[in-house]
Amino acid sequence: MISWKDKRDFWIMGAKIADPAGGKIKTGSVLVQKGMICEVAPQKTPETDLPVLDAGGLVLAPGFVDIHTHLREPGFEDKETIETGTAAAASGGYTSIMCMANTQPVVDDPSVVEYIRRRAEMSGRCRVYVAGAVTRGLAGEEITEFHHLKKAGAVALSDDGRFIVNSKVMRLALEYAKMIGLPVISHCEDPYLADDAQMNESYVSTRLGLRGAPAASEEIAIARDIRLAALTGGRLHIAHVSTAGGVDLVRKAKKTGIAVTAEASPHHLTLDETMLENYDRNFKVNPPLRGARDIAALRAGLKDGTIDCIATDHAPHTEIDKQVEFNYAPSGMTGLQTAFAQLNTELVEKGEMELVELLRLLSTAPASVIGIPGGRLEPGLPADLVLLDPKEEWVFERSMVRSRSYNTPLIGKKFTGRVHGVFLEGKWYSDVS
Ligand code: DOR
Repeated sequence: MISWKDKRDFWIMGAKIADPAGGKIKTGSVLVQKGMICEVAPQKTPETDLPVLDAGGLVLAPGFVDIHTHLREPGFEDKETIETGTAAAASGGYTSIMCMANTQPVVDDPSVVEYIRRRAEMSGRCRVYVAGAVTRGLAGEEITEFHHLKKAGAVALSDDGRFIVNSKVMRLALEYAKMIGLPVISHCEDPYLADDAQMNESYVSTRLGLRGAPAASEEIAIARDIRLAALTGGRLHIAHVSTAGGVDLVRKAKKTGIAVTAEASPHHLTLDETMLENYDRNFKVNPPLRGARDIAALRAGLKDGTIDCIATDHAPHTEIDKQVEFNYAPSGMTGLQTAFAQLNTELVEKGEMELVELLRLLSTAPASVIGIPGGRLEPGLPADLVLLDPKEEWVFERSMVRSRSYNTPLIGKKFTGRVHGVFLEGKWYSDVS
């Protein structure tokens, strides 16, 4: 398709340019010089000596931004590395991701933040932002040195994967994080109610003989954290909301002016608990896939702005990790490579959402939730862009997996909508020949 000649200065012509913030897609041209967007022009044939890339009517949008990626490095390089995780991200249209702190060692020390950032500069295929841990060793007891983590480059704080059970610790976390202007991202799940849960608690879990986590385990945790956000004025972001009750709590909190934002994952928006019927461990995630009512509520939440953005919770695990009895398999599925295609297929193609709105929820919205750059296509900004065909049909084959792990139930799935590649600071990466 596009032939990339490794020039840093060029025009992209004949693209449908998406402006997610303005809610419009218009045909036009973009001038990129030294990795920056210099001009966004209406359709024209520029008089230029610069190379011209013909976008052939594809959609050019701000590169996607994922604020919930498990990169696994350091410590679990058998599952993913910064190199493979960012390759999967670029393949899925992402130009920026934020990685979570549940590595080994945990990102509870500035040296680990610095290590990840340095490794990302060396081998990353996209920008990598780092979330620091809220508590030492993610143990939920002793708060980390927020200021030092921020100075080392952390842009948010999270014990994701674990709920901070001790309310006093969470209160202090919100208070201290507020002082230095960072959001606290909470994994909302009461671990006592969700003890040893393998899936959602429902008629389906009873039939399958698997222990379930009731929706209340998430709702109780969200309710508590919202109360603490109100008490402290701290910035709370709720990770992977999965229940109708959770959406409702966030909606009500927002109405009263509490500083809370929320994300939903592509899998919670499109897959449900009945998919566990054949005990496929690739559907085992945490929080678990829920019921049809919850999915409808999440989609309604996206529509009315209760859910601010979409974040993948890309959670790679090796085949050896997953190929054990269901109860022993770790939770998580990968998602960076398929997020756009899956959501475009299930929401845009089925008429539930406009394409430009999906692009906003994958780029502009997550960047602004965390307060990181990205998600905009405007002169003066780095040329971090995604080029995609929203109508192309394709099958996600195992050979296309760029992650080090294959734990996605979507291998073999036919999608409508395909990412053709990304420009990262003007440099073209593509998996599509
Ligand atoms: O399914 C999940 N996997 N949910 C999480 O919150 C953590 C993640 C992981 O790290 O594997």
